[in-house]
Amino acid sequence: MIQFYSKLNIYFILFVALLAIILPSSESQKTDPKIQCQGVSKASDKNELIEYDVAKKCIESFPFDAKFAKDTIDATLHFVSNYYAFLDQANEEPPKGFTYQPVNIIKELESLYNKPFKSDYDFTAALRNTIFKLKDGHTRILNICYQNFVYDQNLTLYSVVTTDKEKNKKQVFDDKSDPSNNDCEVTEIDGKPALQAIIVFANNSISYLKDLGVRFNMALAPSIGFFSQQFTLREDFPETPSITYNLTCPNKSFKFERKWAITYDSAFENFCLQDISSSSSKVTALKSTSASSSKVTPLKSRSASRNKNNKKSNIKHAKLVTEDFYLVNNGTVGVAVITEENEKSTIYALADGLDKLNKLGAKKLILDMSNNIGGDIPVAIFTILLLFRSQQQPYLFPTSIKINDFTIPAIEKKFKTHSSDFDAYNPYSYLSFPSGEPFKNASDFIGPRKNLTSSLRLDILTPNDKQLLNNTSSFPWTSEEIIIITNGFCISACALITSFLSEFHNVKTISVGGFLDTPMSFSTFPGGFATSVNVIAESAGDPKFTDLPKEINSLLLTFSKSHDFDKKSNITTGILEYLFKPADYRLYYNESNARDPSFLWIDVLIF
Ligand SMILES: *[C@@H]1O[C@H](CO)[C@@H](O)[C@H](O)[C@H]1NC(C)=O
Ligand SMILES: *[C@@H]1O[C@H](CO)[C@@H](O)[C@H](O)[C@H]1NC(C)=O
Ligand SMILES: *[C@@H]1O[C@H](CO)[C@@H](O)[C@H](O)[C@H]1NC(C)=O
Ligand SMILES: *[C@@H]1O[C@H](CO)[C@@H](O)[C@H](O)[C@H]1NC(C)=O
Ligand SMILES: *[C@@H]1O[C@H](CO)[C@@H](O)[C@H](O)[C@H]1NC(C)=O
Ligand SMILES: *[C@@H]1O[C@H](CO)[C@@H](O)[C@H](O)[C@H]1NC(C)=O
Ligand SMILES: *[C@@H]1O[C@H](CO)[C@@H](O)[C@H](O)[C@H]1NC(C)=O
Ligand SMILES: *[C@@H]1O[C@H](CO)[C@@H](O)[C@H](O)[C@H]1NC(C)=O
Ligand SMILES: *[C@@H]1O[C@H](CO)[C@@H](O)[C@H](O)[C@H]1NC(C)=O
Ligand SMILES: *[C@@H]1O[C@H](CO)[C@@H](O)[C@H](O)[C@H]1NC(C)=O
Ligand SMILES: *[C@@H]1O[C@H](CO)[C@@H](O)[C@H](O)[C@H]1NC(C)=O
Repeated sequence: MIQFYSKLNIYFILFVALLAIILPSSESQKTDPKIQCQGVSKASDKNELIEYDVAKKCIESFPFDAKFAKDTIDATLHFVSNYYAFLDQANEEPPKGFTYQPVNIIKELESLYNKPFKSDYDFTAALRNTIFKLKDGHTRILNICYQNFVYDQNLTLYSVVTTDKEKNKKQVFDDKSDPSNNDCEVTEIDGKPALQAIIVFANNSISYLKDLGVRFNMALAPSIGFFSQQFTLREDFPETPSITYNLTCPNKSFKFERKWAITYDSAFENFCLQDISSSSSKVTALKSTSASSSKVTPLKSRSASRNKNNKKSNIKHAKLVTEDFYLVNNGTVGVAVITEENEKSTIYALADGLDKLNKLGAKKLILDMSNNIGGDIPVAIFTILLLFRSQQQPYLFPTSIKINDFTIPAIEKKFKTHSSDFDAYNPYSYLSFPSGEPFKNASDFIGPRKNLTSSLRLDILTPNDKQLLNNTSSFPWTSEEIIIITNGFCISACALITSFLSEFHNVKTISVGGFLDTPMSFSTFPGGFATSVNVIAESAGDPKFTDLPKEINSLLLTFSKSHDFDKKSNITTGILEYLFKPADYRLYYNESNARDPSFLWIDVLIF
């Protein structure tokens, strides 16, 4: 549920080439990014658009380095096989409701050793796509050079359900970007039926989660940050320079071609043309002491274009109380729009907003947790306790961590030294499940299972959370008076909150969008803890690798898994990440509510 982007925050020292006296041959020029990327570099400096061919020439100019590729695969294999929490589950058939192929990730990674690659990008993309087969949003590889390109169609697509003359419902597309195209239906994309084109894209090219209906939503209407509008706003180099759309408008039908508007999100030279052959310049800004998995900043959008496309929607049918809190239905129903679980910004606003809704007399509460990018575990617990003050424990799902031969001595050592720093393999960072007691000794923590620790609780509120909870008067809303609505994109910490409220407090859930008459999850990738592998390796006292071989690539990995449990605290009921939990009710988008969620808030009242 937690992401580190520490590497992305490192400022690289610009490598200044001192001499350009030796003229390279034209063959080697083709693989000299300093020459091939001049156009990208210039455009990036001036914040200008980059032509598709200019971007392509640049990206393909970084030469394939067989030794580097081998070292990268070695390290990735090591990290995935030793720490990845879902190694076994990933290779099992998906439960009904999810859409993905089982993957033997070790075999897939090993197959990369023998493949020929034309360029470094070719290799990096293959590695990235291999990891993406896991369809686990917490686990991915990022390249700080290539991943800063942004490919934008500069338009937004929605899928709406319409009713024809015979009252049959039909799912179609509308393009709401260009005012002159308003109310036009997109019938074809690149010559294929539009609906099918988007489904294929969502199925094959969106890799963050296992429910195809939610991936379909992600392809279209905005979620936020990295995850927004994946079909029209891409993070990987598109196969074609443009996309063509057939539009059917009230008075005309036509076809138009839209080129990708390509930008580079940062200073290109700093991210791509530093001394890329050197690994000696490793910057170790990450200290395990600050690497608290429970206190990590959530995903942030790195891209102005992404933010641009995520303007706040119009809210017609609701009265604004305070930012993100509304009243609907003549003031009788409160709405809380919750988009992240970030410790610093969320808890005060949440406590204050709910308090205001209560004081204004809201009899019911709608939690709109669409497009929620997750965040910190304590905030998840805080949110649950704020709504349901019962002190009945545990407050959240238990988790467990993968262990192996070399992590056991590390755990034993940490137990002896009694470190209070949060750290993945420190028994003092957790309590035992379900009792909430501290672990008595290292073997108590390690437990009887071979490859997994005992069940762990990490449901500890910060002292500040506790105080704020105590300071906020409790709310009158019962389970029946609260309802959760999401577009399925409620990830990580958000998924834990909504799943817990649904399962243990019987709060009803509604999911919006997806495919007509197909059950859809209300939340996705609850996962477990995830962070970058250098942090995990340091915590584990890894004897072989400290990180991937170069700064340029960063691997994020889920190293713990959340377990479902029943009311008797029996945890053998499943791994959350692999449980399909459809919403109790469904709603669909139409022209109005796709742009203005307050239409949906009104709809909610019928349930
Ligand atoms: C999605 O892709 C999988 C292969 O990964 C395939 O088996 C399945 O039929 C596809 N589903 C749809 C709806 O396209
Ligand atoms: C569409 O055509 C009708 C009748 O020809 C006309 O009244 C209407 O104004 C046209 N609408 C647009 C958006 O051009
Ligand atoms: C899409 O547009 C092209 C070019 O105008 C046309 O040949 C094709 O028939 C159109 N398809 C549909 C379904 O209208
Ligand atoms: C995107 O569209 C807006 C409004 O139509 C326009 O002003 C802008 O220049 C476009 N940007 C790109 C990158 O095409
Ligand atoms: C809305 O609330 C006001 C004040 O309580 C009341 O006078 C009015 O009749 C209500 N309107 C509706 C449509 O319920
Ligand atoms: C560890 O603690 C457990 C629970 O108190 C106890 O049963 C066990 O004997 C202890 N093991 C060691 C090696 O001290
Ligand atoms: C534990 O890990 C070993 C080696 O990693 C593997 O062979 C074994 O099957 C695993 N056992 C279980 C119960 O998952
Ligand atoms: C709780 O209330 C006390 C007294 O009003 C105040 O001093 C303190 O700052 C509050 N704490 C939080 C976390 O809101
Ligand atoms: C909670 O607040 C009450 C007053 O409202 C105070 O008496 C009590 O000490 C507080 N408890 C904690 C744990 O801060
Ligand atoms: C826990 O659940 C499993 C699977 O449903 C069941 O076989 C087992 O008996 C349960 N254990 C307890 C202690 O309830
Ligand atoms: C769309 O659905 C909303 C309810 O969500 C309804 O109020 C509205 O009239 C519908 N709009 C259109 C254009 O069908």
